[in-house]
Amino acid sequence: MTQTRTFTVVDENSQPICELPVFNGTLGPDVIDVQALYRKTGMFTFDPGFNSTASCASDITYIDGEKGILLYRGYPIEQLAERGTFLEVCHLLLYNELPTTDELTAFEQNITMHTMVHDQLTNFFKGFRRDAHPMAIMVGVVGALSAFYHDALDINSKRDRDLSAIRLIAKVPTIVAMCHKYSVGLPFMYPNNKLSYVENFMRMMFATPCDDYIPNPVLVRALDRILILHADHEQNASTSTVRLAGSSGANPYACITAGIACLWGAAHGGANEAVLNMLQQIGDVSEIPKFIARAKDKNDSFRLMGFGHRVYKNYDPRAKLMRATCYEVLEELGLHDDKLFKLALELERIALEDPYFIEKKLYPNVDFYSGIVLHALGIPTNMFTAIFAMGRSIGWIAHWDEMISDPDQRIGRPRQLYTGETRRDLPSQHR
Ligand code: SDX
Repeated sequence: MTQTRTFTVVDENSQPICELPVFNGTLGPDVIDVQALYRKTGMFTFDPGFNSTASCASDITYIDGEKGILLYRGYPIEQLAERGTFLEVCHLLLYNELPTTDELTAFEQNITMHTMVHDQLTNFFKGFRRDAHPMAIMVGVVGALSAFYHDALDINSKRDRDLSAIRLIAKVPTIVAMCHKYSVGLPFMYPNNKLSYVENFMRMMFATPCDDYIPNPVLVRALDRILILHADHEQNASTSTVRLAGSSGANPYACITAGIACLWGAAHGGANEAVLNMLQQIGDVSEIPKFIARAKDKNDSFRLMGFGHRVYKNYDPRAKLMRATCYEVLEELGLHDDKLFKLALELERIALEDPYFIEKKLYPNVDFYSGIVLHALGIPTNMFTAIFAMGRSIGWIAHWDEMISDPDQRIGRPRQLYTGETRRDLPSQHR
């Protein structure tokens, strides 16, 4: 980042108070460095939803919300989703470069060798009810990983950070599949080292010890693409949560767990599950106008799930790719007449023609179609956000590593605008 000019802060009489440096990056808006603002003016900035706040400098992902652009380390998401694999994207996000053939082989083998979890970890599941939400179990079990890996928790050691990254990429799918098996009362399936990353996950999800499981290559490719589309998204709520947790020096498993907890919210990663529930609630094309009216009604808390985005004020490029994946999967499964998909297409058409959505620049986001694909793949609705977490884990880890590696990194500690009571004393008779 380079300083391009300064920004003058003036008082109510337009008299200069101080100069603040303005920096530019390689793409996107310049930033006003306000780190000295409080010291120089006695004032804070105020930006509760972080609409206009850059929390850090990052080399990992770039989004242009107006143009609907998403780049992972400079590569367009469209090219990576169509021509790359999820483990290639993991390597890219972690190490800033796509792997060579030999590097990819070594990376895949390393991941494969870490897919099993400590056998005592299975005991954690027994404490949950069978109908516990998988995200509740994920928070508990991924958080417990730090209790098993004392050999590599030195966050200042690159070797420990790399090993923790590999362990998380490798073990999160195993834990996600275990959440599913536990919820349906079936035995856990161990990973199979002969399978690819996604084939392994699908086998752990859908196979039983009683039968052979032959992954469908079209469905494997579709899920691999879904993980690519969810891998990272700059400083979204859960990634910012991971960064803030990591800034205190917490171990990587605890930080990723904080990200999982934040992702669970329906306004964030919980939206894919909410979209499917919404489509099932709408039920029929004839009901769409009623729900569109509810979404526009200020007095109704209902929102069109899967629509709108803090950054994208254009079509989310991931939603376009997700819709294409929807077609592929439904065709492969002979579900081209899938009622939910047809309902989603009609809902999207009507919403995109409605002045309310046009004026507020509300477009389908990554979650709008992902639920339909995951449903078609046979993944239970309450597992959708866990799949999102499986894809996003690499983004969380890459941002955590980037933050910890920054020599200027300090603990994150926002301030506030206090609007409460001024000082007052307890009544004399109070004991
Ligand atoms: C993800 O940040 C990321 O990058 C997230 C993510 C990632 O990859 O990490 O992309 C993943 O979280 C995608 C978003 C999934 N969430 C949903 O689909 C839930 C439905 N969407 C909304 O809750 C909302 O659009 C948000 C939370 C996504 C964005 O919220 P903002 O930026 O705070 O927008 P807003 O609430 O200020 O809305 C602006 C206006 C408001 O109306 P006014 O107050 O200006 O009159 O648009 C309205 C909102 O009421 N609005 C909607 C709407 N979304 C916004 N109205 C109806 N339906 C909606 N979905």
